[in-house]
Amino acid sequence: MKSPTLFSTLLLALFLSLFAACSDDGSSSPTGTGEAIESSVSQDGKSSATSSPATSKNETSSSSESTVSNSSANSSSATSSSATSASKSRGKTLVAYFSRTGNTKPLAEYAAEYLDATLFEITAKIPYTDEDIAYYTDCRADREQKDESARPEIATAVENMDEYDTVIIAHPIWHGIAPRIISTFLESYDFSGKTLLTFCTSASSPLGQSAKLLQELTPNSTWLESKRFAIGTSREEIEEWLEDVLHP
Ligand SMILES: Cc1cc2nc3c(=O)[nH]c(=O)nc-3n(C[C@H](O)[C@H](O)[C@H](O)COP(=O)(O)O)c2cc1C
Repeated sequence: MKSPTLFSTLLLALFLSLFAACSDDGSSSPTGTGEAIESSVSQDGKSSATSSPATSKNETSSSSESTVSNSSANSSSATSSSATSASKSRGKTLVAYFSRTGNTKPLAEYAAEYLDATLFEITAKIPYTDEDIAYYTDCRADREQKDESARPEIATAVENMDEYDTVIIAHPIWHGIAPRIISTFLESYDFSGKTLLTFCTSASSPLGQSAKLLQELTPNSTWLESKRFAIGTSREEIEEWLEDVLHP
C-alpha cells in the first residue's frame, strides 16, 4: 500500500511540476512577446513620431493654409460675379496703384484685368510735379521719403472698401521703399481680416524692406509675398506671378 501511494504521490508531483512548467511558459511568453511588441510599437511610434506627426504637422499647416485660401475662395464665389475671377482671385479684389511716371500703371492694369478686379488709382491731393519727383535734389519726394511720419493726402477714396476680400497695392520704389502715400492709403481703411499683397516697380532696387514696412502698418491682415518687377514687365509674367502667389 505504501509504495503505490508513494508512487502515485511522485507521479502527481511530476505531473504538477510539468503542468506548472507549461503554464509558466504560457504566461511568460506573452509578457516577453508583449514587451517585444511594445518596444517594436514604441520604436515604430518613435519613427512615426518623427515622420508621421511631422507629416501631419505639414498637412495641418498646409491645410490651414488651404483653409485660408478656401475661405477666400468661398467668399470669392459668394461675391464675385464671374466664375473665372472667382477661381483666379481670392474673393472680391481691388487693385489700387500709385504710378507717378506711368511704369507701374500697366502692370496694375494687367493684374486687375486678369483677376477681374476693380482698379483704383491712388492720386495725391497735391499732385507731384516733375520738380517734386526730381530725386536727389531735396525735392518733395526726397523729403517725404526721409520722414517716416510723412503722410501725403490722397485725392479720392475707395468706395465700399468693406466689400473687398483681397487688396493688391502696386507702387514704385522711392528711395528703397514705397512712397509715403502708400502708407497714407494703408492707414485710411480698416484692412483687418483682408488679404493684402503689394508689388512694385523700380529702376534697379530690389524689394528690400518695402513690403515689411507696409505690413507693419496693418498687422491684422493676411499678407501674401510681395514682389518687385522690372519696368516693362509683361502681362504674362504678372499673370504667372498672380497664379503662384494667390494659389500656391
Ligand atoms: C523720388 C523717386 C525715388 C526713386 N528711388 C528709386 C530707388 O531707390 N531705386 C530704384 O531702383 N528706383 C527708384 N526710382 C525709380 C522708380 O522706382 C521707377 O522709375 C518706377 O518704375 C517708377 O514707377 P511709376 O512710373 O509707376 O511711378 C525713384 C523714382 C523717384 C521719382
